[in-house]
Amino acid sequence: MADETFTIHDHRTGKSYDTRIFKGTVRAMDLRQIKTDPEDFGTMSYDPAFMNTASCQSAITFIDGDRGILRYRGYPIEQLAEHCSFLEVAYLLLYGELPTESQLKEWVREVALHTMIHENLKKIMDGFHHDAHRMGILVSTLAALSTFYPDAKNVLDPQVRRLQTLRLIGKVPTIAAFAYRHSLGLPYVYPDNDLGYTENFMNMLWRMSEPKLVANPVLARALDVLFILHADHEQNCGTNTLRTVASAHADPFVAIAAAAAALSGPLHGGANEEVLKMLDEIGTKENIPAFIEHVKAGKGRLMGFGHRVYKNYDPRARIIKRTAEEVFKVTQRNPKLDIAIELERIALDDEYFVKRKLYPNVDFYSGIIYQAMGFKPEMFTVLFAIPRVAGWLAQWQELLLDPDQKISRPRQIYIGHDKRDVIPIDKRTGPKATSA
Ligand code: ACO
Repeated sequence: MADETFTIHDHRTGKSYDTRIFKGTVRAMDLRQIKTDPEDFGTMSYDPAFMNTASCQSAITFIDGDRGILRYRGYPIEQLAEHCSFLEVAYLLLYGELPTESQLKEWVREVALHTMIHENLKKIMDGFHHDAHRMGILVSTLAALSTFYPDAKNVLDPQVRRLQTLRLIGKVPTIAAFAYRHSLGLPYVYPDNDLGYTENFMNMLWRMSEPKLVANPVLARALDVLFILHADHEQNCGTNTLRTVASAHADPFVAIAAAAAALSGPLHGGANEEVLKMLDEIGTKENIPAFIEHVKAGKGRLMGFGHRVYKNYDPRARIIKRTAEEVFKVTQRNPKLDIAIELERIALDDEYFVKRKLYPNVDFYSGIIYQAMGFKPEMFTVLFAIPRVAGWLAQWQELLLDPDQKISRPRQIYIGHDKRDVIPIDKRTGPKATSA
């Protein structure tokens, strides 16, 4: 056998098996041949939460969590954040290469042609209660798009996929801005295709009686950079959800709604909102040590800290921290930044966090900028979802073109009862009291 193999020895049977090493992994299906007898189903792998399982091959995003590296299609995130616009990066994620000037111009034009939403979709949004969470509105409205575009179901047609891609990237800022205005009882502002992607979004959010909101270029650029940083992050919880739903060939609107639902969780994209709540709760720098002790005693988590993959500083958090300083030159300095910096300093010096390799993640500083720009915390995760739609679409496309992929369907280890017979109702004792 070549060197690129493992030999697995089964002490139950005395047999040995050579297993191919595939790009540094073992194919779980190769374990199936390991059996105690011909009737045996074969060995499976057990990996709750995918702690050590690659679910796909992907050429989109590269992360080296130990070294704090993030690249889209090979380009370091730092360079993309410095030199590119969000739509340029969205193009890169989707098509694999950065666009030429004319390609970018055409791409921007095409996206702009899809920013309007159907008036009936607006009516659906009107039906939400005024204090409905903005992520709830976004998730539901994304799913509702599916009913407006039945052609989207033909997911194997590349032209259909391309059209839904333009629709989703074009419409998501409109839906997000309408969700924001709805919560404030303000009339909706329709898209203005003379404006850039981010400027148009800002216009839809904040225009009042003026004919056009002239966005501050520093703030518009900061938001664009934040969009770039959030555009993709390989197989995280939301993207894995997207791939699972899309693997059943569900249309991209419902698949992306499902991914956004996963993103809304406080352990995932919802953490940016939780960080602000936490900083409010801490209140002043003097309260930080007591808060850290509280976390170390297992009474809560330091939100915006820790990551499944990064065991080093999240490179996005570093760029966001720098961007915050730019934003504060225009807005008032958000006093929460000083609390966050001190919290980070104390945590990074503490044995508990050092030992567990817990560093600030993307959500630790983003909310502080959003708040300084005038966003309420309930809008933070929506701001995360807007650019992530581009990444989800790139992953969707990759999944559908990957011959290795099939409908996603994990196995389980059954731990319930053996077969038993139904007994008459008057003889049953019912379930034991549990905490479930
Ligand atoms: N504060 C305090 N302790 C923490 C934190 C935290 N933020 N994160 C992890 N830990 C501890 C755990 O208690 C555990 O300790 P133990 O070994 O003594 O039991 C250890 O570190 C490992 O934590 P896990 O939960 O096993 O790590 P996992 O990889 O499953 O979780 C996660 C990653 C969910 C991001 C976690 O770090 C967390 O809850 N962080 C706070 C929420 C957050 O900021 N989420 C945003 C992540 S970025 C994103 O999704 C966009």
